[in-house]
Amino acid sequence: MTATPARERTVHQADAVDGPWWRHAVIYQVYPRSFADSDGDGIGDLPGITARLDHLVDLGVDALWLSPFYVSPQADAGYDVADYRDVDPVFGTLDDIDALLDKAHRLGLRVVVDLVPNHTSDEHLWFAAARAAAPGSPERARYLFRDGRGRHGELPPNNWTSMFGGPAWTRITEADGRPGQWYLHLFDTKQPDLDWSNPQVRTEFEDVLRFWLDRGVDGFRVDVAHGLVKADGLPDWAGVVTMIDGSDPVDGGAAPHGRTSPMFDQDGVHEVYRAWRTVLDSYPGDRAMVAEAWVEPLERLARYVRPDEMHQAFNFSFLSAGWDPAALRSVIDRSFAANDTVGAPTTWVLSNHDVVRHASRLGLSDPTRRPNGIGDGDEQPDAELGLRRARAASLLVLALPGSAYLYQGEELGLPEHTALPDELRQDPTYTRSGGAERGRDGCRVPLPWQQDAPAFGFSPNGASWLPQPAGWREFTVDAQRGRPGSTYETYRSALRLRRQHQLAAGDLTWLPSDPEVLTFTNGRVLVVTTMGSAAVQLPPGARVLISSDTSQTGDVVAPDTTVWALLD
Ligand code: NOJ
Repeated sequence: MTATPARERTVHQADAVDGPWWRHAVIYQVYPRSFADSDGDGIGDLPGITARLDHLVDLGVDALWLSPFYVSPQADAGYDVADYRDVDPVFGTLDDIDALLDKAHRLGLRVVVDLVPNHTSDEHLWFAAARAAAPGSPERARYLFRDGRGRHGELPPNNWTSMFGGPAWTRITEADGRPGQWYLHLFDTKQPDLDWSNPQVRTEFEDVLRFWLDRGVDGFRVDVAHGLVKADGLPDWAGVVTMIDGSDPVDGGAAPHGRTSPMFDQDGVHEVYRAWRTVLDSYPGDRAMVAEAWVEPLERLARYVRPDEMHQAFNFSFLSAGWDPAALRSVIDRSFAANDTVGAPTTWVLSNHDVVRHASRLGLSDPTRRPNGIGDGDEQPDAELGLRRARAASLLVLALPGSAYLYQGEELGLPEHTALPDELRQDPTYTRSGGAERGRDGCRVPLPWQQDAPAFGFSPNGASWLPQPAGWREFTVDAQRGRPGSTYETYRSALRLRRQHQLAAGDLTWLPSDPEVLTFTNGRVLVVTTMGSAAVQLPPGARVLISSDTSQTGDVVAPDTTVWALLD
C-alpha cells in the first residue's frame, strides 16, 4: 500500500501566520488540584503550578488554561463557585494568582482562566439570599425557582434530569418551615442554575470578566457555554440527556444535547457572548474566549465563534470520533467547512478533565466507545495499543491547522486510572448515578513528576488526593526527559516542528489513500496516519521529520502510527 498522491482536495486554505495568538496556539490545560502540590495537603495549588511553569516552557506550549481555583465548597471540584473574585484557600490566595500570572507572562506564556456562568455554588451569597427570601422576590429571580407540580407542589416543575444523573430540581424548605419552591440545577444539587434573562446576572458577570481582565488574564474558558439560556417556559423534554461529557448515557439512549433540547444551545445565548466580546475588546492584548459547548452539528457550534462572539470552541465532535478514519476525515472536513464560513480557527482536543484519557479510550476493543470512567470489573483497555494510538492521534492533532488544547499528563502518555477503588471516587456523577457511572476521577489523578519521590513528586510528603497507580513510575517526567522517542520528547519535538513549519497557519489538502489511512499535506509537510492493519509506504523522496512509532526506521509507516515527512 502506498500514500502516493494522485488527486488532491484542499479543504482549508492557509491563514496569516501573524494573526492573533489564539488562532494558532497550543494551550495546555492545568487542572490545579492535580498538577503540583506545594504545601503537602495532597491537593495541588497555585504556588505548585508557578513553581513548575518551566515544564510548560520546555514542552513548548503557548498558553495554559487553569480549571477553577475560586472559592468553592468543591462539590464539583471547583465548578461550583461561591465567590468569583477570590481564590479558594485550598489553592492559595489572590497574591498567588498574581504571582502565577506575572511569572507566566515573563516566561512568554498566556493564561486563560475558567469562568463558570451557568450556575453558582449553593454557598454563593446570592443563593443564600434567594433561599431566605420569599417566592417571587428579586433574590429568587437570579435563579430558576419554580413552584412544583402536583396538588401540593410536591412534583418537580418539569421532567428534566441532571447531567450527573438524578432529577434536575431540588425542593427547598421555606423560611417558615414549609416545603417550598424548587430550583433548577442541570448539574449537582449544589450547583443552582442562574437565570440569564435577569439583567443583574448579566451585569454581574461582565463585572467578573473585568475583575480578571484587570488582573491580567489573557482569556476565559467558558463552562457550559451552550447552557446559559433555557427555552421559554422550561418545557418538558422527552429526549435523553447524555452525560456531562456527551459520553454514552447510562440507559444507552442516543439523543445528543444539541438544539433539540430545551436546556442547551438556545439562540438567545449568543447575545450574552456578543456583550462579553465587547468587554474583552475594550482591553489591549488580544484577550480571548473559548466555548465549552457540546453542540452538534458543527454548523451550530460555529455560531459561537462568529466574528463578534467567542474566539474558539472546543471541537468535541473530533474528540468523539474515536479511532475511526472515516469519522475523523469527515469531522475534519466538516469542521473546516463550518468554521471557515465564519472565519474562525478550529480548536482540536483529545482529552480533558471530563473524559477518559485518550491513551485509554483508544485502547478499548471499540475505540469509538466513550465510557464515563472505567473501573474494576469494566473492560480494561489494552494499554500498549492505547498508548500507541494516543501518540498517533496526538501527532495528527498537532499537524492540523488551527489551535489545539492538551490536557495535563497527555504529554507523558498517561493512561486513565482504571482501577480506582469506588470508595475513593469524588465525582458527584458516581453517587448521583447510583454508581452506574464511574465518573471522571480516573482522568484527574495527580501528575507524576519524579520516579524516586513520594507521590512521584506531586507533593513534598507523598500526600495525594487520589492515589497514583504504582505503574506510573515509567510515566514520570524525569523518566522521560532526554529519552529519545519517549512520549514527552515526542510532544516536545512535535511542538517545535509545528512552529518551525507553521503548521497551525497552514492549509490542508487531502491526498487519496486507502480508506484506513489519513493522508494530507499541510504546506510542505506530508502527514500520514495509519489506522488499519496494513503498513504504508511513504512516497519516494519524503524525509521523515517525526513519527509516533518509537521503532520507526525508513519510509514504511506501521499500523496505528502518524508520520510527518518533508516533501521535496
Ligand atoms: C463542564 C466542566 O468541564 C465539568 O467538569 C463540570 O462538572 C461541568 N461543566 C459543570 O460545571
